[in-house]
Amino acid sequence: MSQKLWGGRFTQPTDKFVEEFTASIGFEQRLAEYDIRGSKAHAEMLGRQAIIAVAEADQIIAGLDGILKDIEAGKIEFSVALEDIHMNVEARLIERIGPVGGKLHTGRSRNDQVAVDVRLYLRDEIDTLLAYLAKLESALISQAENNLDIIMPGYTHLQTAQPVLYSHHMLAYREMIARDASRLADLRKRFNVLPLGAGALAGTTFPIDREWVAEKLGFDGVTRNSLDSVSDRDFAIEFCSFAAILMMHLSRLAEELILWSSADFSFIELSDAFCTGSSIMPQKKNPDVPELVRGKTGRVYGNLIALLTLMKSLPLAYNKDMQEDKEPLFDSIDTVKGSLKIFAEMIAEMKVRGDNMRIAAARGFSTATDVADYCVRKGLPFRQAHEVVGKTVRYCVETGKDIPELTLDEFREFSALIDDDIYDYVTLEASVNARKATGGTAREAVERELARLRKEN
Ligand code: ARG
Repeated sequence: MSQKLWGGRFTQPTDKFVEEFTASIGFEQRLAEYDIRGSKAHAEMLGRQAIIAVAEADQIIAGLDGILKDIEAGKIEFSVALEDIHMNVEARLIERIGPVGGKLHTGRSRNDQVAVDVRLYLRDEIDTLLAYLAKLESALISQAENNLDIIMPGYTHLQTAQPVLYSHHMLAYREMIARDASRLADLRKRFNVLPLGAGALAGTTFPIDREWVAEKLGFDGVTRNSLDSVSDRDFAIEFCSFAAILMMHLSRLAEELILWSSADFSFIELSDAFCTGSSIMPQKKNPDVPELVRGKTGRVYGNLIALLTLMKSLPLAYNKDMQEDKEPLFDSIDTVKGSLKIFAEMIAEMKVRGDNMRIAAARGFSTATDVADYCVRKGLPFRQAHEVVGKTVRYCVETGKDIPELTLDEFREFSALIDDDIYDYVTLEASVNARKATGGTAREAVERELARLRKEN
């Protein structure tokens, strides 16, 4: 009984398995430094407000610093009997500095404490993640800059559609990652408010100064409703939603890298460092990293659904169910951190086979739309031009010819509007470079975009 910080109203000891079953200490040790940071600010405020003596606050703060050092040195063994990180730290404190340590929890509850701990922790992880996202963005931009002239097939329905610059394709992924980064920065702003002071659910009877604590801990303000403060897990859900969208983007890029590195495409070569061999087939070089990232998308989606389901229909205010928020949140953080880190490095080292991309881009009548646009400029309504070129392509398929190989007479079989300047429009370069408007694949449009990005970053 003696060990429990809440043992007062109990006469029977907790069942051993119940203790294990209800404990969260096994998966929340990463919160220790944030728990201590929050407690130090709280103790200092208690002293400033004369809720406890300043000397007592100083003792508590020194004690907490000592505990943190011991944790960092691996000298502390956490106890399941003490249930969670909050009570593990507090029990250590009392052990270390005596009964005065018991004054730390004045005007506070574990319910507002856990809400502040997770916010402090998540904020730090987000700052790391924003740096990782920037690294991936810059690897994509470098791929574009270093391979500016390479033309590849652009696809819709995975069928050759129109030629595009490989650099344009890379910058499409940059757009996705940039949106992810902006989502992350946005959700960080929304949750960066101090929940401490909500107490268990109704607020506290002590004359605390929440605004001072908020500023001390780097929050932009304080939460406005004590019930909501202890029962809100939107920040975890928003983060897991950001993570799910990011992984969806990475899985799309992963899928393309897997296809492109196959012998059938041969568009890229991934560095050996990111691939493994087969134990039976000597020729194999498997794209394990993109495959794993594609696969890990599943668990990150699962984490989001777990949290949404966890919070569904929960009455106000704190419920023990909410302790289940941590593992999905932590798993999503760890997974996106690892995936981003490895993707940034892999993209930076990826080699492009421009020759093969070009050969593929020339297949599949990729400049058919350019012939149609040509006829439109000569006055034919687009719908009729589409018909003309459709017939031209059918003729090409039947005769085994490509569009640029047709003689002028052959072209004129389909439309008398076609002159010998048609050959200026049906090369891969002409097709790409005709798409000059902002957001198009023309080299000059892509260069303008790269210049803008370089200025921005
Ligand atoms: N370990 C708990 C959690 O993660 C901390 C809050 C516990 N509060 C309580 N009244 N049992 O949610």
